[in-house]
Amino acid sequence: MVQQLWETVKESITAYTGLSPATFFTALAVGLALYYVVSNLFSSSDDGQSHHGGGFEEQMQPLPPPVQVGEITEEELKQYDGSDSKKPLLMAIKGQIYDVSQSRMFYGPGGPYALFAGKDASRALAKMSFEDKDLNGDLTGLGVFELEALQDWEYKFMSKYVKVGTVKTTVHVNDGAAESQAREATETEAAKPAEVVNGNVSKPTEPAEAADRDVAKPAEDGPSETAAKEKTEETTTADDAEKKE
Ligand code: HEM
Repeated sequence: MVQQLWETVKESITAYTGLSPATFFTALAVGLALYYVVSNLFSSSDDGQSHHGGGFEEQMQPLPPPVQVGEITEEELKQYDGSDSKKPLLMAIKGQIYDVSQSRMFYGPGGPYALFAGKDASRALAKMSFEDKDLNGDLTGLGVFELEALQDWEYKFMSKYVKVGTVKTTVHVNDGAAESQAREATETEAAKPAEVVNGNVSKPTEPAEAADRDVAKPAEDGPSETAAKEKTEETTTADDAEKKE
């Protein structure tokens, strides 16, 4: 039976390939050996590539721990919009900057919320808007419900992401007269001497006065600040100066 089968195989080999069974099997063995050598070569060069260029495995590697950026301007925040894959993905709500790198699928290039990355998205989130004019931290004219919605977003971000800094905001202050002036008013720098930020000259402002007028001041309310700080404390030791405030 086996002998018969072997004879049939031999006959078929000769009939189909024109080679003697011995030649056929030699050629097959050489072919397999070649395939083995070549595929090994390729798999080792693939390994080499995955160390250098963003392969799937590389993307799956754990993210580097969030880095504190301190107080930066909106302009500086833009560099963290995901266009440079070596930089973290940052996004701000109410002047508080969060590292959202872990949600690259949302905020990274091509993601549904990529337009929020590198920006203070407070107004857009409050209004549930994707419009260009709302992609900023300006809260003027927002209604109660919008501010509440924004508050919910802030809580979500505080619980999910690490706070890594604050946005140096330029606040438009109405000085009684019709004319409004751009002033520097942040948590830490309200009483600082005149300074030029983003082309706007800011004047020294008394802290109390600044606090009263500060519309878009970074989360001045107690609970959110505290929670954000707790989150930061858990994951990093930097930003100590701010915590002492
Ligand atoms: C048809 C309307 C929308 C649908 C179906 C939708 C759906 C979703 C879904 C499924 C998620 C993922 C939730 C999760 O896994 O945690 C998400 C996240 C999110 N959505 Fe929407 N969304 C819509 C509209 C909006 C609008 C209008 C905004 C704001 C302008 C918005 C802002 C966000 C943000 C910021 C996140 C990410 C939150 C995070 O970082 O965890 N969405 N959305």
